Amino acid sequence: MIAEGSWSDNAGMPLTQPADTETFFEELRRREFARLDASNLAYLDFTGSALYAESQIEAHVRELERGVFGNPHSAHAPSHVSTHVLDAARADVLRQLDADPATYGVVFTANASAALKLVGEAYPFGPNAGFVLATDNHNSVRGIHEYAKRAGGPVHELPLDDELRLLEPEEHLQAIETRGLLAFPAQSNFSGVVHPLDLVGRARALGFDVLLDAAAYVPTHALSLRETPADFVALSFYKLFGFPTGVGALVARLDALGRLVRPWFAGGTVTYVSVFLDRYHLRPGYEAFEDGTPNFLGIAALAPGFSLLNSVGMSRLTAHVQRLTARLLDGLASLTHRDGAPLVRIYGPISTVGRGGTIAFNVLDRAGNPVPFEEVEGRGRDLGVAMRGGCFCNPGASERAFGGDPGRARACLDGLHDHFTLAGLRDCLGPSATVGAMRASVGLPTNARDVDRAIEVVASFGGH
Ligand SMILES: Cc1ncc(COP(=O)(O)O)c(C=O)c1O
Repeated sequence: MIAEGSWSDNAGMPLTQPADTETFFEELRRREFARLDASNLAYLDFTGSALYAESQIEAHVRELERGVFGNPHSAHAPSHVSTHVLDAARADVLRQLDADPATYGVVFTANASAALKLVGEAYPFGPNAGFVLATDNHNSVRGIHEYAKRAGGPVHELPLDDELRLLEPEEHLQAIETRGLLAFPAQSNFSGVVHPLDLVGRARALGFDVLLDAAAYVPTHALSLRETPADFVALSFYKLFGFPTGVGALVARLDALGRLVRPWFAGGTVTYVSVFLDRYHLRPGYEAFEDGTPNFLGIAALAPGFSLLNSVGMSRLTAHVQRLTARLLDGLASLTHRDGAPLVRIYGPISTVGRGGTIAFNVLDRAGNPVPFEEVEGRGRDLGVAMRGGCFCNPGASERAFGGDPGRARACLDGLHDHFTLAGLRDCLGPSATVGAMRASVGLPTNARDVDRAIEVVASFGGH
Protein backbone atom coordinates (compact mmCIF):
# COMPACT_ATOMS: atom_id res chain seq x y z
CA MET A 1 0.00 0.00 0.00
CA ILE A 2 1.06 3.59 -0.59
CA ALA A 3 2.07 5.52 2.50
CA GLU A 4 0.37 8.91 2.64
CA GLY A 5 2.61 11.73 1.59
CA SER A 6 5.39 9.38 0.47
CA TRP A 7 5.03 9.99 -3.23
CA SER A 8 5.23 12.87 -5.65
CA ASP A 9 4.30 13.69 -9.23
CA ASN A 10 6.74 13.74 -12.14
CA ALA A 11 7.77 17.29 -11.33
CA GLY A 12 8.62 16.21 -7.78
CA MET A 13 5.66 18.10 -6.27
CA PRO A 14 4.40 16.32 -3.16
CA LEU A 15 0.77 15.23 -3.43
CA THR A 16 -0.51 15.61 0.08
CA GLN A 17 -3.75 13.65 0.33
CA PRO A 18 -4.76 10.48 -1.48
CA ALA A 19 -8.32 11.89 -1.19
CA ASP A 20 -7.25 14.77 -3.49
CA THR A 21 -5.97 12.18 -5.88
CA GLU A 22 -9.23 10.25 -5.88
CA THR A 23 -11.09 13.49 -6.66
CA PHE A 24 -8.59 14.22 -9.42
CA PHE A 25 -9.18 10.85 -11.08
CA GLU A 26 -12.97 11.02 -10.61
CA GLU A 27 -13.04 14.42 -12.34
CA LEU A 28 -10.82 13.15 -15.10
CA ARG A 29 -13.17 10.22 -15.62
CA ARG A 30 -16.24 12.48 -15.74
CA ARG A 31 -14.54 14.84 -18.19
CA GLU A 32 -12.73 12.42 -20.46
CA PHE A 33 -14.29 8.97 -20.12
CA ALA A 34 -18.01 9.74 -19.68
CA ARG A 35 -18.79 6.96 -22.15
CA LEU A 36 -17.88 4.38 -19.51
CA ASP A 37 -20.66 5.42 -17.14
CA ALA A 38 -23.02 6.24 -20.01
CA SER A 39 -22.73 2.61 -21.14
CA ASN A 40 -22.67 1.29 -17.55
CA LEU A 41 -19.47 -0.57 -18.34
CA ALA A 42 -16.77 -1.55 -15.85
CA TYR A 43 -13.77 -1.93 -18.15
CA LEU A 44 -11.01 -3.99 -16.55
CA ASP A 45 -8.79 -5.05 -19.45
CA PHE A 46 -6.14 -2.33 -19.49
CA THR A 47 -3.40 -4.88 -20.09
CA GLY A 48 -5.28 -5.70 -23.29
CA SER A 49 -5.71 -2.05 -24.25
CA ALA A 50 -5.89 1.32 -22.52
CA LEU A 51 -8.85 3.62 -23.28
CA TYR A 52 -8.44 6.96 -25.04
CA ALA A 53 -9.61 10.21 -23.46
CA GLU A 54 -12.07 12.35 -25.42
CA SER A 55 -9.62 15.25 -25.60
CA GLN A 56 -7.09 13.07 -27.43
CA ILE A 57 -9.54 12.41 -30.22
CA GLU A 58 -10.65 16.05 -30.40
CA ALA A 59 -7.05 17.24 -30.61
CA HIS A 60 -6.27 14.67 -33.30
CA VAL A 61 -9.30 15.55 -35.40
CA ARG A 62 -8.45 19.28 -35.10
CA GLU A 63 -4.93 18.60 -36.34
CA LEU A 64 -6.16 16.51 -39.29
CA GLU A 65 -8.75 19.14 -40.22
CA ARG A 66 -6.13 21.89 -40.24
CA GLY A 67 -3.14 20.21 -41.82
CA VAL A 68 -2.19 18.97 -45.27
CA PHE A 69 -0.10 15.84 -44.69
CA GLY A 70 1.90 14.20 -47.47
CA ASN A 71 4.05 11.10 -47.56
CA PRO A 72 7.05 11.93 -45.35
CA HIS A 73 9.55 10.51 -47.87
CA SER A 74 9.33 13.63 -50.11
CA ALA A 75 10.65 17.19 -50.11
CA HIS A 76 7.46 19.19 -50.74
CA ALA A 77 5.71 21.20 -48.02
CA PRO A 78 2.99 18.65 -47.09
CA SER A 79 5.75 16.04 -46.81
CA HIS A 80 7.66 18.33 -44.45
CA VAL A 81 4.52 18.64 -42.32
CA SER A 82 4.45 14.86 -41.88
CA THR A 83 8.20 14.70 -41.30
CA HIS A 84 7.79 17.29 -38.58
CA VAL A 85 5.06 15.15 -36.97
CA LEU A 86 7.40 12.14 -36.99
CA ASP A 87 10.38 14.07 -35.61
CA ALA A 88 8.29 15.60 -32.83
CA ALA A 89 6.80 12.20 -31.96
CA ARG A 90 10.25 10.59 -31.82
CA ALA A 91 11.36 13.35 -29.44
CA ASP A 92 8.23 12.80 -27.29
CA VAL A 93 8.89 9.05 -27.10
CA LEU A 94 12.50 9.63 -26.04
CA ARG A 95 11.37 12.19 -23.44
CA GLN A 96 8.72 9.81 -22.09
CA LEU A 97 11.37 7.09 -21.66
CA ASP A 98 14.00 9.52 -20.34
CA ALA A 99 16.34 8.44 -23.14
CA ASP A 100 19.33 10.44 -24.36
CA PRO A 101 18.73 11.29 -28.06
CA ALA A 102 22.46 10.90 -28.71
CA THR A 103 22.26 7.29 -27.50
CA TYR A 104 18.80 6.07 -28.54
CA GLY A 105 16.72 6.10 -31.70
CA VAL A 106 13.00 5.45 -32.24
CA VAL A 107 11.79 3.10 -34.98
CA PHE A 108 8.04 3.37 -35.46
CA THR A 109 6.40 -0.01 -36.04
CA ALA A 110 2.86 -1.40 -36.24
CA ASN A 111 2.91 -2.62 -32.61
CA ALA A 112 5.18 -4.10 -29.95
CA SER A 113 5.19 -7.48 -31.73
CA ALA A 114 6.57 -5.89 -34.91
CA ALA A 115 9.24 -4.12 -32.84
CA LEU A 116 10.25 -7.43 -31.22
CA LYS A 117 10.34 -9.13 -34.62
CA LEU A 118 12.66 -6.44 -36.00
CA VAL A 119 15.19 -7.43 -33.35
CA GLY A 120 14.61 -11.19 -33.63
CA GLU A 121 15.02 -11.37 -37.39
CA ALA A 122 18.15 -9.20 -37.42
CA TYR A 123 20.00 -10.38 -34.32
CA PRO A 124 23.19 -12.26 -35.34
CA PHE A 125 22.22 -15.54 -33.63
CA GLY A 126 24.58 -18.49 -34.09
CA PRO A 127 26.34 -21.22 -32.11
CA ASN A 128 28.16 -18.51 -30.14
CA ALA A 129 25.26 -16.07 -29.85
CA GLY A 130 22.21 -17.52 -28.17
CA PHE A 131 18.83 -16.39 -26.92
CA VAL A 132 17.82 -16.25 -23.28
CA LEU A 133 14.21 -15.53 -22.45
CA ALA A 134 12.08 -15.52 -19.34
CA THR A 135 9.43 -18.15 -18.81
CA ASP A 136 7.16 -15.13 -18.26
CA ASN A 137 7.57 -13.78 -21.80
CA HIS A 138 4.69 -12.95 -24.14
CA ASN A 139 4.44 -15.09 -27.29
CA SER A 140 5.71 -12.16 -29.34
CA VAL A 141 9.05 -12.50 -27.54
CA ARG A 142 8.91 -16.29 -27.32
CA GLY A 143 8.65 -16.48 -31.13
CA ILE A 144 12.17 -15.05 -31.39
CA HIS A 145 13.53 -18.44 -30.34
CA GLU A 146 12.55 -19.70 -33.80
CA TYR A 147 15.10 -17.29 -35.32
CA ALA A 148 17.71 -18.34 -32.75
CA LYS A 149 17.10 -22.07 -33.31
CA ARG A 150 17.23 -21.68 -37.10
CA ALA A 151 20.65 -20.06 -36.79
CA GLY A 152 21.92 -22.80 -34.45
CA GLY A 153 21.89 -20.49 -31.44
CA PRO A 154 21.43 -22.06 -28.00
CA VAL A 155 18.18 -21.11 -26.24
CA HIS A 156 17.89 -20.83 -22.47
CA GLU A 157 14.98 -20.05 -20.23
CA LEU A 158 14.99 -18.05 -16.98
CA PRO A 159 12.62 -19.89 -14.63
CA LEU A 160 10.01 -18.44 -12.28
CA ASP A 161 9.52 -19.01 -8.57
CA ASP A 162 6.20 -19.81 -6.86
CA GLU A 163 5.23 -16.11 -6.90
CA LEU A 164 5.95 -16.05 -10.66
CA ARG A 165 9.01 -13.82 -10.16
CA LEU A 166 12.29 -14.51 -11.95
CA LEU A 167 14.17 -17.09 -9.91
CA GLU A 168 17.81 -16.04 -9.33
CA PRO A 169 18.15 -14.61 -12.86
CA GLU A 170 21.71 -13.37 -12.49
CA GLU A 171 22.94 -16.76 -11.26
CA HIS A 172 21.27 -18.40 -14.25
CA LEU A 173 22.84 -15.90 -16.66
CA GLN A 174 26.27 -16.45 -15.14
CA ALA A 175 25.91 -20.20 -15.65
CA ILE A 176 25.17 -19.85 -19.37
CA GLU A 177 28.33 -20.40 -21.42
CA THR A 178 27.40 -18.41 -24.50
CA ARG A 179 26.38 -14.77 -24.56
CA GLY A 180 23.77 -13.28 -26.88
CA LEU A 181 20.35 -11.70 -26.52
CA LEU A 182 18.44 -11.67 -23.22
CA ALA A 183 14.74 -10.77 -23.38
CA PHE A 184 12.43 -10.28 -20.44
CA PRO A 185 9.28 -8.29 -19.71
CA ALA A 186 9.50 -5.28 -17.41
CA GLN A 187 6.03 -6.31 -16.24
CA SER A 188 4.21 -9.57 -16.77
CA ASN A 189 1.06 -9.41 -18.86
CA PHE A 190 -0.08 -12.55 -16.99
CA SER A 191 0.62 -11.98 -13.29
CA GLY A 192 1.41 -8.26 -13.17
CA VAL A 193 4.81 -9.03 -11.59
CA VAL A 194 7.31 -6.23 -12.12
CA HIS A 195 10.64 -7.86 -12.83
CA PRO A 196 13.87 -6.26 -11.52
CA LEU A 197 14.88 -3.53 -13.94
CA ASP A 198 18.42 -3.53 -12.58
CA LEU A 199 18.80 -6.91 -14.29
CA VAL A 200 19.27 -4.90 -17.49
CA GLY A 201 22.52 -3.33 -16.32
CA ARG A 202 23.72 -6.52 -14.65
CA ALA A 203 23.09 -8.61 -17.77
CA ARG A 204 24.81 -6.05 -19.98
CA ALA A 205 27.82 -6.14 -17.65
CA LEU A 206 27.90 -9.93 -18.19
CA GLY A 207 28.04 -9.35 -21.95
CA PHE A 208 24.38 -9.79 -22.96
CA ASP A 209 22.42 -7.51 -25.23
CA VAL A 210 19.12 -6.82 -23.50
CA LEU A 211 15.70 -6.62 -25.11
CA LEU A 212 13.22 -5.22 -22.61
CA ASP A 213 9.57 -5.88 -23.42
CA ALA A 214 8.04 -2.78 -21.86
CA ALA A 215 4.56 -3.19 -23.39
CA ALA A 216 2.78 -3.95 -20.10
CA TYR A 217 4.97 -1.75 -17.88
CA VAL A 218 5.13 1.69 -19.48
CA PRO A 219 1.36 2.34 -19.51
CA THR A 220 1.40 2.86 -15.73
CA HIS A 221 5.06 3.36 -14.77
CA ALA A 222 7.78 5.84 -15.60
CA LEU A 223 10.74 4.14 -17.30
CA SER A 224 14.14 5.83 -17.47
CA LEU A 225 16.51 4.47 -20.08
CA ARG A 226 19.26 6.51 -18.45
CA GLU A 227 18.82 4.33 -15.36
CA THR A 228 17.81 1.17 -17.24
CA PRO A 229 20.06 1.20 -20.30
CA ALA A 230 18.36 -1.58 -22.28
CA ASP A 231 19.69 -2.14 -25.78
CA PHE A 232 16.20 -2.59 -27.23
CA VAL A 233 12.79 -1.63 -25.84
CA ALA A 234 9.46 -2.63 -27.42
CA LEU A 235 6.06 -1.02 -26.79
CA SER A 236 2.62 -0.36 -28.30
CA PHE A 237 1.00 3.06 -27.92
CA TYR A 238 -2.63 1.91 -27.64
CA LYS A 239 -1.53 0.24 -24.38
CA LEU A 240 -0.37 3.63 -23.05
CA PHE A 241 -3.35 5.78 -24.00
CA GLY A 242 -5.80 3.81 -26.12
CA PHE A 243 -5.32 5.63 -29.42
CA PRO A 244 -3.92 5.26 -32.02
CA THR A 245 -3.93 1.54 -32.62
CA GLY A 246 -1.48 0.24 -35.20
CA VAL A 247 1.50 2.23 -33.88
CA GLY A 248 4.30 0.84 -31.73
CA ALA A 249 7.98 1.51 -31.38
CA LEU A 250 11.34 -0.12 -31.09
CA VAL A 251 13.44 2.25 -29.00
CA ALA A 252 17.02 1.13 -29.38
CA ARG A 253 20.55 2.13 -28.56
CA LEU A 254 22.11 3.28 -31.80
CA ASP A 255 25.21 1.15 -31.18
CA ALA A 256 23.03 -1.92 -30.61
CA LEU A 257 21.12 -1.27 -33.85
CA GLY A 258 24.51 -1.20 -35.56
CA ARG A 259 25.13 -4.81 -34.46
CA LEU A 260 21.92 -6.06 -36.12
CA VAL A 261 21.92 -7.48 -39.64
CA ARG A 262 18.77 -6.62 -41.54
CA PRO A 263 17.49 -9.57 -43.58
CA TRP A 264 16.13 -7.29 -46.29
CA PHE A 265 15.57 -3.70 -47.29
CA ALA A 266 12.40 -1.82 -48.07
CA GLY A 267 11.15 1.55 -49.17
CA GLY A 268 12.30 4.18 -46.70
CA THR A 269 15.27 2.19 -45.39
CA VAL A 270 17.79 2.70 -48.22
CA THR A 271 19.87 5.61 -49.52
CA TYR A 272 20.21 3.91 -52.91
CA VAL A 273 19.46 0.65 -54.69
CA SER A 274 21.10 -0.27 -58.00
CA VAL A 275 19.38 -2.99 -59.96
CA PHE A 276 22.16 -3.05 -62.58
CA LEU A 277 24.87 -3.48 -59.96
CA ASP A 278 22.74 -5.56 -57.57
CA ARG A 279 23.72 -3.30 -54.70
CA TYR A 280 21.96 -1.30 -52.04
CA HIS A 281 22.95 0.89 -49.16
CA LEU A 282 20.95 1.11 -45.96
CA ARG A 283 20.22 4.43 -44.30
CA PRO A 284 22.09 5.08 -41.05
CA GLY A 285 20.73 4.30 -37.57
CA TYR A 286 17.03 3.83 -36.93
CA GLU A 287 16.14 4.83 -40.49
CA ALA A 288 17.41 1.46 -41.74
CA PHE A 289 14.67 -0.25 -39.70
CA GLU A 290 11.50 1.67 -40.51
CA ASP A 291 10.08 -0.38 -43.38
CA GLY A 292 7.88 1.51 -45.77
CA THR A 293 5.78 4.53 -44.94
CA PRO A 294 5.19 4.92 -41.21
CA ASN A 295 1.64 5.53 -39.99
CA PHE A 296 2.20 9.30 -40.02
CA LEU A 297 -1.45 10.25 -39.45
CA GLY A 298 -1.74 7.82 -36.55
CA ILE A 299 1.59 9.01 -35.16
CA ALA A 300 0.14 12.55 -35.18
CA ALA A 301 -2.16 11.30 -32.40
CA LEU A 302 0.72 10.47 -30.04
CA ALA A 303 1.22 14.06 -28.84
CA PRO A 304 -2.29 14.35 -27.28
CA GLY A 305 -1.75 10.92 -25.69
CA PHE A 306 1.51 12.03 -24.08
CA SER A 307 -0.19 15.28 -22.98
CA LEU A 308 -2.81 13.24 -21.15
CA LEU A 309 -0.16 11.20 -19.34
CA ASN A 310 1.83 14.34 -18.51
CA SER A 311 -1.24 16.06 -17.11
CA VAL A 312 -1.66 13.13 -14.73
CA GLY A 313 2.00 12.46 -13.94
CA MET A 314 3.35 8.92 -14.07
CA SER A 315 4.00 8.55 -10.34
CA ARG A 316 0.45 9.69 -9.54
CA LEU A 317 -0.85 7.17 -12.09
CA THR A 318 1.33 4.40 -10.61
CA ALA A 319 -0.03 5.16 -7.13
CA HIS A 320 -3.65 5.26 -8.40
CA VAL A 321 -3.23 1.88 -10.07
CA GLN A 322 -1.56 0.48 -6.98
CA ARG A 323 -4.41 1.62 -4.73
CA LEU A 324 -7.05 0.02 -6.95
CA THR A 325 -4.97 -3.13 -7.35
CA ALA A 326 -4.82 -3.46 -3.56
CA ARG A 327 -8.62 -3.13 -3.39
CA LEU A 328 -9.09 -5.77 -6.06
CA LEU A 329 -6.55 -8.16 -4.53
CA ASP A 330 -8.03 -7.80 -1.05
CA GLY A 331 -11.59 -8.14 -2.33
CA LEU A 332 -10.87 -11.27 -4.36
CA ALA A 333 -8.73 -12.91 -1.70
CA SER A 334 -11.41 -12.44 0.96
CA LEU A 335 -14.13 -14.28 -1.00
CA THR A 336 -15.19 -17.73 0.18
CA HIS A 337 -17.98 -20.20 -0.44
CA ARG A 338 -20.70 -20.32 2.23
CA ASP A 339 -18.91 -23.26 3.87
CA GLY A 340 -15.70 -21.24 4.08
CA ALA A 341 -13.91 -22.92 1.14
CA PRO A 342 -11.82 -20.43 -0.89
CA LEU A 343 -13.61 -19.01 -3.93
CA VAL A 344 -10.59 -17.56 -5.72
CA ARG A 345 -7.06 -18.69 -6.53
CA ILE A 346 -4.79 -15.74 -7.37
CA TYR A 347 -1.65 -16.37 -9.41
CA GLY A 348 1.42 -14.31 -8.54
CA PRO A 349 1.88 -11.82 -5.70
CA ILE A 350 -1.09 -11.20 -3.43
CA SER A 351 0.29 -7.89 -2.13
CA THR A 352 1.04 -4.79 -4.22
CA VAL A 353 4.79 -5.07 -3.61
CA GLY A 354 6.72 -5.48 -6.88
CA ARG A 355 3.67 -5.80 -9.05
CA GLY A 356 1.51 -3.69 -11.37
CA GLY A 357 -2.23 -3.53 -11.91
CA THR A 358 -2.80 -6.91 -13.58
CA ILE A 359 -4.29 -9.78 -11.59
CA ALA A 360 -4.66 -13.35 -12.90
CA PHE A 361 -6.99 -15.66 -10.99
CA ASN A 362 -9.40 -18.55 -11.19
CA VAL A 363 -12.77 -18.93 -9.55
CA LEU A 364 -12.98 -22.26 -7.67
CA ASP A 365 -16.00 -24.46 -7.08
CA ARG A 366 -16.70 -25.96 -3.63
CA ALA A 367 -14.41 -28.89 -4.35
CA GLY A 368 -11.56 -26.52 -5.20
CA ASN A 369 -11.74 -27.21 -8.96
CA PRO A 370 -11.49 -24.26 -11.36
CA VAL A 371 -14.74 -22.97 -12.81
CA PRO A 372 -14.17 -22.75 -16.60
CA PHE A 373 -12.94 -19.22 -17.25
CA GLU A 374 -15.46 -18.87 -20.11
CA GLU A 375 -18.28 -19.02 -17.54
CA VAL A 376 -16.71 -16.25 -15.46
CA GLU A 377 -15.94 -14.14 -18.51
CA GLY A 378 -19.51 -14.66 -19.75
CA ARG A 379 -21.10 -13.68 -16.43
CA GLY A 380 -18.90 -10.59 -16.36
CA ARG A 381 -20.06 -9.73 -19.88
CA ASP A 382 -23.72 -10.17 -18.85
CA LEU A 383 -23.19 -7.84 -15.88
CA GLY A 384 -21.28 -5.21 -17.87
CA VAL A 385 -17.85 -6.07 -16.46
CA ALA A 386 -15.13 -6.51 -19.09
CA MET A 387 -12.44 -8.93 -17.90
CA ARG A 388 -10.34 -11.23 -20.03
CA GLY A 389 -10.18 -15.02 -19.94
CA GLY A 390 -7.58 -17.44 -21.33
CA CYS A 391 -3.80 -17.57 -21.15
CA PHE A 392 -3.15 -14.06 -22.49
CA CYS A 393 -0.42 -15.12 -24.97
CA ASN A 394 1.84 -16.01 -22.06
CA PRO A 395 2.06 -19.82 -22.08
CA GLY A 396 5.15 -20.02 -19.86
CA ALA A 397 3.69 -18.07 -16.94
CA SER A 398 0.32 -19.83 -17.34
CA GLU A 399 1.82 -23.32 -17.30
CA ARG A 400 4.04 -22.41 -14.33
CA ALA A 401 1.02 -20.98 -12.51
CA PHE A 402 -1.42 -23.79 -13.29
CA GLY A 403 0.98 -26.66 -12.63
CA GLY A 404 -0.41 -30.06 -13.58
CA ASP A 405 1.09 -33.20 -15.00
CA PRO A 406 3.08 -32.54 -18.22
CA GLY A 407 2.97 -36.24 -19.20
CA ARG A 408 -0.82 -36.27 -19.01
CA ALA A 409 -1.04 -32.96 -20.90
CA ARG A 410 1.20 -34.35 -23.65
CA ALA A 411 -0.91 -37.50 -23.95
CA CYS A 412 -4.11 -35.44 -24.16
CA LEU A 413 -2.68 -33.08 -26.77
CA ASP A 414 -1.39 -36.04 -28.82
CA GLY A 415 -4.81 -37.69 -28.56
CA LEU A 416 -6.69 -34.57 -29.60
CA HIS A 417 -4.18 -33.71 -32.31
CA ASP A 418 -6.07 -32.04 -35.20
CA HIS A 419 -9.34 -32.02 -33.24
CA PHE A 420 -8.03 -29.75 -30.50
CA THR A 421 -10.61 -27.77 -28.54
CA LEU A 422 -10.28 -26.33 -25.07
CA ALA A 423 -13.37 -28.28 -24.00
CA GLY A 424 -11.80 -31.51 -25.32
CA LEU A 425 -8.58 -30.80 -23.45
CA ARG A 426 -10.52 -30.07 -20.26
CA ASP A 427 -12.47 -33.34 -20.61
CA CYS A 428 -9.27 -35.27 -21.11
CA LEU A 429 -7.37 -33.64 -18.22
CA GLY A 430 -10.20 -33.87 -15.72
CA PRO A 431 -12.03 -31.28 -13.60
CA SER A 432 -9.11 -30.42 -11.31
CA ALA A 433 -6.87 -29.30 -14.21
CA THR A 434 -6.57 -25.62 -15.06
CA VAL A 435 -6.48 -24.69 -18.74
CA GLY A 436 -6.98 -20.93 -18.54
CA ALA A 437 -7.53 -18.10 -16.09
CA MET A 438 -9.25 -14.76 -15.69
CA ARG A 439 -7.35 -11.49 -15.87
CA ALA A 440 -8.51 -8.18 -14.46
CA SER A 441 -6.37 -5.10 -14.98
CA VAL A 442 -6.87 -1.50 -13.91
CA GLY A 443 -5.83 1.77 -15.51
CA LEU A 444 -6.14 5.52 -15.56
CA PRO A 445 -9.98 5.87 -15.67
CA THR A 446 -10.70 2.93 -13.34
CA ASN A 447 -12.51 3.76 -10.11
CA ALA A 448 -13.36 1.82 -6.96
CA ARG A 449 -16.87 1.06 -8.26
CA ASP A 450 -15.41 -0.76 -11.30
CA VAL A 451 -13.27 -2.85 -8.99
CA ASP A 452 -16.21 -3.63 -6.71
CA ARG A 453 -18.31 -4.70 -9.68
CA ALA A 454 -15.59 -7.18 -10.72
CA ILE A 455 -15.51 -8.54 -7.16
CA GLU A 456 -19.34 -8.86 -7.25
CA VAL A 457 -19.15 -10.92 -10.47
CA VAL A 458 -16.73 -13.33 -8.80
CA ALA A 459 -18.67 -13.36 -5.52
CA SER A 460 -21.80 -14.46 -7.39
CA PHE A 461 -20.11 -17.85 -8.00
CA GLY A 462 -20.14 -18.42 -4.25
CA GLY A 463 -23.84 -17.71 -3.99
CA HIS A 464 -23.21 -14.26 -2.47
C1 LIG B 1 4.06 -7.84 -22.31
C2 LIG B 1 3.54 -7.78 -23.71
N1 LIG B 1 4.40 -7.88 -24.73
C3 LIG B 1 4.01 -7.81 -26.00
C4 LIG B 1 2.69 -7.65 -26.32
C5 LIG B 1 2.30 -7.58 -27.76
O1 LIG B 1 1.74 -6.33 -28.02
P1 LIG B 1 1.02 -6.07 -29.42
O2 LIG B 1 -0.10 -7.07 -29.51
O3 LIG B 1 0.53 -4.67 -29.31
O4 LIG B 1 2.04 -6.26 -30.47
C6 LIG B 1 1.75 -7.55 -25.31
C7 LIG B 1 0.31 -7.44 -25.62
O5 LIG B 1 -0.55 -7.71 -24.82
C8 LIG B 1 2.18 -7.61 -23.96
O6 LIG B 1 1.32 -7.50 -22.94
